Amino acid sequence: MKMWTVTRIRQAKGKQRLACLTAYDCPTARMVDEAGIPLILVGDSVGMAVLGYDSTLPVTMEQMLHHTAAVVRGVQNALVIADMPFLSYQVSIESGIINAGRLLKEAGADAVKIEGGAFRADLVRALVANGIPVIGHIGLTPQSVREFGGFKVQGRTSAAAAQLRADALALAEAGIFALVLECIPAVLGADITTAVSVPTIGIGAGPLCDGQVLVSSDMLGLNDQFQPRFVKRYANLAPQMRAAFAAYAREVADGTFPGPEHGYEAEA
Ligand code: KIV
Repeated sequence: MKMWTVTRIRQAKGKQRLACLTAYDCPTARMVDEAGIPLILVGDSVGMAVLGYDSTLPVTMEQMLHHTAAVVRGVQNALVIADMPFLSYQVSIESGIINAGRLLKEAGADAVKIEGGAFRADLVRALVANGIPVIGHIGLTPQSVREFGGFKVQGRTSAAAAQLRADALALAEAGIFALVLECIPAVLGADITTAVSVPTIGIGAGPLCDGQVLVSSDMLGLNDQFQPRFVKRYANLAPQMRAAFAAYAREVADGTFPGPEHGYEAEA
């Protein structure tokens, strides 16, 4: 049994702050797990962070299954949450159950994440009733980026804040075990955190959420053209990787690599 279960995540509310990072491949997932991080999200951010799309909209079920299975192979203790990609749950509750079930059954995820507020409560109830744990996601929900007109902070007016608070309560009542709050004012992140019974996991939602999530490639500084305000860089890997690639290219060109220590002897 894993150290981190849905029950333990729920019980952490008010007792222990929860760290969450995204991972999309096995070696990254293994290192995140070894760091003792309780939640690993196979985000549909894979579309932007790894696959080169300009939004998460093109990400498919097959891609999510592929990346989730790779992550699961690297993890021993963290709870692995697979994002449900655009149009895998919006069309009908039935297709939502089938696709969420595939992420658990075929890829080995422990739970799924869906975007959207109170209008997703029936889907959450249906998933949970069928044994599929769900984490909600409100605020800046990237699958609605066309509707929002860009990646913009949400919940800034009192009406929008009240709607997000009502969404959070409806999702919690429907059975989610945690809730991602993305890009909302810190005061609203704190208010929703106090109001709901499940842990809130913030990204650009202030310090008073029950936990925080970052996209691993952002916090590692792998993409140096992209640094939203809510990202803290814990490493700056892009320049180091460029330098390593350039050194390798130089050494191949000048014949320094491979050296004798990288080769094999013939049998005597
Ligand atoms: O896809 C993702 O990585 C996410 C997080 C940013 C919460 O949804």
